[in-house]
Amino acid sequence: MGPGLKGVTRRHSEEWLELFLKDPQQTWKSDHRETLELKKRVKKTRVPVTVCRKEHMTAENYRNLMDYLKSLKD
Ligand code: HEM
Repeated sequence: MGPGLKGVTRRHSEEWLELFLKDPQQTWKSDHRETLELKKRVKKTRVPVTVCRKEHMTAENYRNLMDYLKSLKD
């Protein structure tokens, strides 16, 4: 349903990934350059479904998720 995540840490800064993982809805609404680029790329305008519930995004889960995304090199 979403774009493949391979190489995602090259497409995005860590700063943006943190915003998106912690609060996708808010990040989708922002006019951050990387959000605008993502919207153009996925050709979609609706607000994203929250995959990760905010209350589950503890500091530890966030770190693990970032490590996982960084491991998806192509
Ligand atoms: C561990 C699980 C997941 C993580 C860490 C994750 C992370 C991300 C990231 C980083 C992006 C931006 C990708 C880019 O710019 O190329 C993205 C986009 C997207 N993801 Fe996921 N994702 C996950 C699971 C899912 C699932 C299960 C779905 C759907 C059922 C989904 C749907 C989408 C969609 C539709 C987008 C495009 C932008 C949007 O509409 O929000 N993702 N995801």
